[in-house]
Amino acid sequence: MSIILGLETSCDETAAAVVKDGRIVLASELNSQTGIHKKFGGVVPEVAARYHLEAVNEVIQQALDKSGIAPHELTAIACTQGPGLIGTLLVGLSAAKAMSWVLQKPLLTVDHLYAHICANYINTELEPPFICLLVSGGHSQVIHVKAHKDWEILGQTLDDAAGEAYDKVARLLGLGYPGGPMIDKVAREGDSRAFKFPEGTVKGYDFSFSGLKTAVLRTVEKLEKPLPVSDLAASFQDAVNRVLFRKTHQAAMALNVDKIVLAGGVAANKDLRRRFSELDSAGAIKVFMPDLQYCTDNAAMVASCAYFAGVETGLDCTAYSRQAAASI
Ligand code: KG4
Ligand code: ZN
Repeated sequence: MSIILGLETSCDETAAAVVKDGRIVLASELNSQTGIHKKFGGVVPEVAARYHLEAVNEVIQQALDKSGIAPHELTAIACTQGPGLIGTLLVGLSAAKAMSWVLQKPLLTVDHLYAHICANYINTELEPPFICLLVSGGHSQVIHVKAHKDWEILGQTLDDAAGEAYDKVARLLGLGYPGGPMIDKVAREGDSRAFKFPEGTVKGYDFSFSGLKTAVLRTVEKLEKPLPVSDLAASFQDAVNRVLFRKTHQAAMALNVDKIVLAGGVAANKDLRRRFSELDSAGAIKVFMPDLQYCTDNAAMVASCAYFAGVETGLDCTAYSRQAAASI
């Protein structure tokens, strides 16, 4: 039996979780800084790092208390090594190193993006191979996961990430931060056919969202106030989700893979989930999507990832802010 404590501090959530055998969450605790960064309209790295430092010990303690697991019973300590904000990553990594050293347990580091994918192992029996649509605040990728430590990026965004596009358009519509969940909410009252926004004409499995963002901007500039915010949000959301769905589906068909998994913050989007649920219901392809709490940043996915694909590292390892070339 394996019981791993995972820590996640790559952006604005201080999270700790205890996960058994990579799939069973015994505790998943999270201290969100969203309220703190709201007034700045986005995450301020230095402010985030300071709040992580204040919260990290308490969040770890809460996770251990809730799980009923004593520190000496842990199999390993895991944390996100990157990519993310370097100052915030170092808080989690330092805490994990300290625990690893004091408890004399292995330190396992994981890549944040691969951790998002591993959220799909929680409470399921999912095994590779599968096609993953990874859509977060910083990345949009279609990935062929062939085995636990063997994957290939089939396509990615050439400019903005899907989550970034959601956040920027939300700001444009005056919906504030964080933008994705706000667009998701107001789009439910809107008509997705009210405005015709372009999908982007990138070949293969790559994406481009900057043209779409500009199209929304031009439309907003021409419209009289008050803006039809719900219709604009619904039409924008439709354009993003349409292309995300189509390319992921195409990849699965072309490679003859019968499983698709969604990962990352945008995988929490209701309309995107509906599209993939319908595909699942059609029968030929089985679709996995994490529970909402495991789509956005959390530590259960870190502990799960450490179980399936963690790398044992020495106490001299350091964090990386950008996507490592050798990783996902
Ligand atoms: O994966 P994540 O929590 O953090 C990163 O690793 O980036 O993703 C955050 C992104 C943000 O851009 C946020 O606006 C978007 O995910 N997001 C959503 C929704 N919930 C979060 N986008 C659309 N609909 C949502 N419901
Ligand atoms: Zn993330």
